[in-house]
Amino acid sequence: MKVLALQASPRPGGNSEVLLNAVLSGLAGGDIDLVNLTALNIGPCINCGGCEKDGICVFDDDMEPLYDMILAADRVIFASPIYFYNITAKGKLFIDRTQALWNRQRLPEAKGAVWHNRERRGYLVSVAATRGRRVFEGAVLTMKYAFDAMGLSYGGELLVRGIDRRGEMAEAAGELEKARAFGRECLR
Ligand SMILES: Cc1cc2nc3c(=O)[nH]c(=O)nc-3n(C[C@H](O)[C@H](O)[C@H](O)COP(=O)(O)O)c2cc1C
Repeated sequence: MKVLALQASPRPGGNSEVLLNAVLSGLAGGDIDLVNLTALNIGPCINCGGCEKDGICVFDDDMEPLYDMILAADRVIFASPIYFYNITAKGKLFIDRTQALWNRQRLPEAKGAVWHNRERRGYLVSVAATRGRRVFEGAVLTMKYAFDAMGLSYGGELLVRGIDRRGEMAEAAGELEKARAFGRECLR
């Protein structure tokens, strides 16, 4: 099973990365591609309308190979910390550029394409400093619609509250154990 893991925190070795790595360690048997979005050159969608004609983005930057990787994946796992009640800016740049896939889905020739298989699933992995009841709502809503644009059904989320300081996630052994179990569930 092909797994595409996307990491959207600008903090190297940060909390969401530690959490994502624990999820991936539970994905034994998966064929995993791990992509650090913050290391890539991904420009903003400018709503030029180019992808409405053929589902292909007019820009040729580091997003380009990701389109095929998304469509080939059985599972996409997107990891981001909460920044102002949503995913990070780099994560959002990536999501906005999946508009090309949203438009590709609407082309007549896309109907019945293998990547429309609803067994393909997307998951959100996230951490937040606060323990607010609604702190993940924005990110969950954004990712539900983003995965839909990628032709994936929403598999669920792993959310950890009260994690802020660098290194704090690595100290939360119980949460990391849950993350490994979450990884195993993702492959089912
Ligand atoms: C710009 C910025 C905005 C943030 N906004 C929120 C927020 O709205 N709610 C919250 O609980 N934590 C917020 N945080 C805290 C991060 O989610 C927290 O530090 C997290 O552990 C960082 O994960 P990382 O190490 O993977 O980057 C914010 C942090 C930054 C730098």
